[in-house]
Amino acid sequence: QAQLGSDLHMRPLAKDDLYRSHLSVLRVLTSTPELTEEQYTQAFNRLKSCPNTYFTLVIINRATDQVVGVGSVFMEQKFTRGLGVVGHIEDIAVDKSVQGRKLGLRIIQALTTISERVGSYKTILNCSDANIPFYEKCGFQKKENEMARYH
Ligand code: ACO
Repeated sequence: QAQLGSDLHMRPLAKDDLYRSHLSVLRVLTSTPELTEEQYTQAFNRLKSCPNTYFTLVIINRATDQVVGVGSVFMEQKFTRGLGVVGHIEDIAVDKSVQGRKLGLRIIQALTTISERVGSYKTILNCSDANIPFYEKCGFQKKENEMARYH
């Protein structure tokens, strides 16, 4: 907590974070159209209904009560490795105004800790070449390749 700076704190996503700029922060990452409160609540409840599977953390600016950073990890259970569990990190975004303050690093550290505690044997993610140095600083190594097919 101290490492974030006293103006900020980290906590799990809350059901009313739609009104704290959650989606605006995600726009530094990719297209994130507005959602109605009903759509947001439904999505939030759908993720919550899978116990110990979806975890989203946000960093909040205490003064403005707005989200300035976000990241998720979800847990995949496999049939291999004796029902092994893999953590997948997704959708890491830090608002431009606070990039470079190690918030991305803190989000990755916290998500990796959750993934380990839930019992995963590894935590993986996909990223652009430009973000490889960031993830190396977070303790990740490049492995294999990503394949994608868009629909
Ligand atoms: N290239 C080289 N080094 C980098 C980069 C980069 N693109 N980004 C961060 N770093 C370094 C920092 O300099 C710092 O190094 P240091 O410890 O030597 O000082 C270290 O990585 C930690 O950086 P942070 O300050 O924690 O980075 P920040 O809080 O700005 O967050 C992030 C990084 C998340 C990539 C942010 O810039 C961002 O939101 N970018 C736009 C969205 C994005 O690309 N998200 C990641 C997509 S991949 C995914 O979601 C799985």
